[in-house]
Amino acid sequence: MLSAKFDEYKILIDEYINNYFNMRKSDNKSINAFIDAVLYSYNSGGKRIRPGIMLMISDLIEIEIRDIMPFAAALEMIHTYSLIHDDLPSMDDDDMRRGKPTLHIKYNEGVAVLAGDYLLNEASEIILDDIVSSANTMNKLKAFKYLYNSSGLEGMLGGQVIDIEDNDSMSKSEVLRMYEQKTAQLFKVSCVIPGYLKGLENYKIDKLEELGKSIGMTFQLIDDLLDREEDEEIGKTTVLSILGLDETKQLIDDYHRKSKALLVDFGFENSVLSELINSLVLRSI
Ligand code: IPE
Ligand code: IPE
Ligand code: MG
Repeated sequence: MLSAKFDEYKILIDEYINNYFNMRKSDNKSINAFIDAVLYSYNSGGKRIRPGIMLMISDLIEIEIRDIMPFAAALEMIHTYSLIHDDLPSMDDDDMRRGKPTLHIKYNEGVAVLAGDYLLNEASEIILDDIVSSANTMNKLKAFKYLYNSSGLEGMLGGQVIDIEDNDSMSKSEVLRMYEQKTAQLFKVSCVIPGYLKGLENYKIDKLEELGKSIGMTFQLIDDLLDREEDEEIGKTTVLSILGLDETKQLIDDYHRKSKALLVDFGFENSVLSELINSLVLRSI
């Protein structure tokens, strides 16, 4: 548990997404079994950090939960698809995630490939359904474009393309760039989309983007720190194998400080978001 307040956001997101998929069930047994497979993966214990941050920022800048929810759900759907595909034998070939069998092990590879495709598809549909039936269209379209740009070649997917290459000889800046795309980009989405929905000025959007980057980089570097023994065993190239422990810890500290300074700029220093960032860092101590 990251914090009691964070858990309240998590419950909202989980209810919304479970309800959304259950509504897609019909009288077709095969389709229903497929949706159950998607729900198996979705409900296997994710922390919901990205949509959680999105809801926190929405509360802080006074965006209605019902306006942000389709975007928060779409973001978690894209994250879930990326992990389902990332675990496939042709990618990282992982049998377990969050202590449970991955989707291709529990079901089969075909289901896992289609579940990922479906989640990416549904992430646009849930937003488009909202856009065609509500006001604030231009701001929502900007947010939609930002989400897909961030999960595509210039963002998460591009980072994964670099990650699957043989990257033993990566420089510090190359590996940090890869992390920025692969992980931090979706954290930028968490921070920036509420700003778009609110119609904030560009300089504030840029600051929210910086905040997302700092939180995302802190998160990924801590993840590497926590996984370091396992990664060493399989010889995986990470920031730790390139920079060593001390420099990695220093980087975490730098990004953490930067996040906190940005929170102060926005007047969010005493918020549940600030608590969340601190508890992310505490995971590694
Ligand atoms: C895992 O992300 C993938 C990374 C980018 C490190 P999370 O740790 O947020 O995954 P879940 O959804 O909470 O399991
Ligand atoms: C997660 O990256 C993949 C995505 C960003 C989609 P990793 O391969 O580094 O993370 P884990 O270890 O599988 O969670
Ligand atoms: Mg992986």
